[in-house]
Amino acid sequence: MTAPREPHDEVSFNEPEGIEAESLPRTTPRDDAADSASIRLNSEPPPADLAAVPREITPEAAEFLREFGARYTADEVIGKLRALRRMKVLVLGDTIIDEYHFVRPYGMPTKASVIAAQYLEAQSYAGGVLAVANHVAGFCDDVHLVTVLGAQDSKEDFVRANLRPNIRPKLFAQPGAPTTVKRRYLQKFLLQKLFEVSFFDDQPLRAELEAEVCDYLDAALADYDLVIASDFGHGCITRRMIDLLCARGRFLAVNTQLNSINYGYHVISRYPSADYVCIDEAETRMACRDRYSPIENLVRPLSRELRAQVVTVTRGHHGSLTWRAGKPFAHVPVLSRQVVDTVGAGDAFLSVAAPCAAANFPPDLVGFIGNAVGALAVRIVGNAQPVHPEMLYEFIRTLLP
Ligand SMILES: Nc1ncnc2c1ncn2[C@@H]1O[C@H](COP(=O)(O)OP(=O)(O)OP(=O)(O)O)[C@@H](O)[C@H]1O
Ligand SMILES: [Mg+2]
Repeated sequence: MTAPREPHDEVSFNEPEGIEAESLPRTTPRDDAADSASIRLNSEPPPADLAAVPREITPEAAEFLREFGARYTADEVIGKLRALRRMKVLVLGDTIIDEYHFVRPYGMPTKASVIAAQYLEAQSYAGGVLAVANHVAGFCDDVHLVTVLGAQDSKEDFVRANLRPNIRPKLFAQPGAPTTVKRRYLQKFLLQKLFEVSFFDDQPLRAELEAEVCDYLDAALADYDLVIASDFGHGCITRRMIDLLCARGRFLAVNTQLNSINYGYHVISRYPSADYVCIDEAETRMACRDRYSPIENLVRPLSRELRAQVVTVTRGHHGSLTWRAGKPFAHVPVLSRQVVDTVGAGDAFLSVAAPCAAANFPPDLVGFIGNAVGALAVRIVGNAQPVHPEMLYEFIRTLLP
């Protein structure tokens, strides 16, 4: 039986008028890392090697799409995504440079029980909040990025050169710290990771710098329809900033990324409130200190604690679960079987789902769009490039009538 169509709310946003921000010089000479980066930001139409969108879906996804497709057409979903263009978005969070060093393991040295490998090549990608800003900027024209680099080995040229042109960055610098770099050593075949070494200083921001960032945010926040906190727990977003975001952000979307550096210390409950929470299952269980209950049972208390309007739990190869007050849970299975690298899939999900949540999309639509973005993101090595809107639209056309 065909489910009745829901009345979808109209979306309206501020006219872009722009606040004081640094302009983005496009002529900055790239450093060595930037030269090796393969990020492609301005390609219209999408790069040829990504033009073939994934079409393989699981039986579970086929069943979901039969039902979902009776409620939404591809044109309707794409039309709603296109309507997000005028949303003004401020993205705040930790900058991470993802380095991928590709090697060929050739064996074990006779005098040590380690894997020895031949160096092949290295790539640097704009990760962390930079990846989020790049994803968002494909869908929304006016994106303002606020982040803190390290004053030592800042990689500022690389950062500026690897942002989409419609992102206006405001870059602060933490004295005595490096910009965070996560370097992975991988076997090129199947991208098997062998070892990781990171360069970072996750001490709290110096008091003067924190005050400077807070003053800046205080003046800026009211100008944005949506504020995304892409919080990797590496020190950029302090308690004082969180209070400011919660008090002044018109619609606050948050991800608190759990990783091996911040494990156990960085949970969503650092935020007293958030309008949209988008975290993965491990992050949800850690925040609720509950390993085994059905995930649905954790979402309601979490939404109450944070006074959230919308919550998504991304569940890797199990897809996602999205809840909105007064609506049934939306379980959406993964929409592709083609997986190259899952790193950054959750950030891609958040980046497109957050504007959808802010625009009052129903939970099944938020979950569907997020998973479609996730399906494209898992085909990209790390954050080598953002999910391209035209690719997403083409993918959606293959899934829906
Ligand atoms: N193996 C997979 N197959 C298909 N889709 C996937 C797979 N893994 C992730 N996805 C898609 O990406 C979304 C986000 O993935 P996941 O839940 O792993 O986020 P995450 O743990 O926050 O990742 P990260 O922190 O690395 O960005 C999932 O909801 C799903 O739509
Ligand atoms: Mg994540």
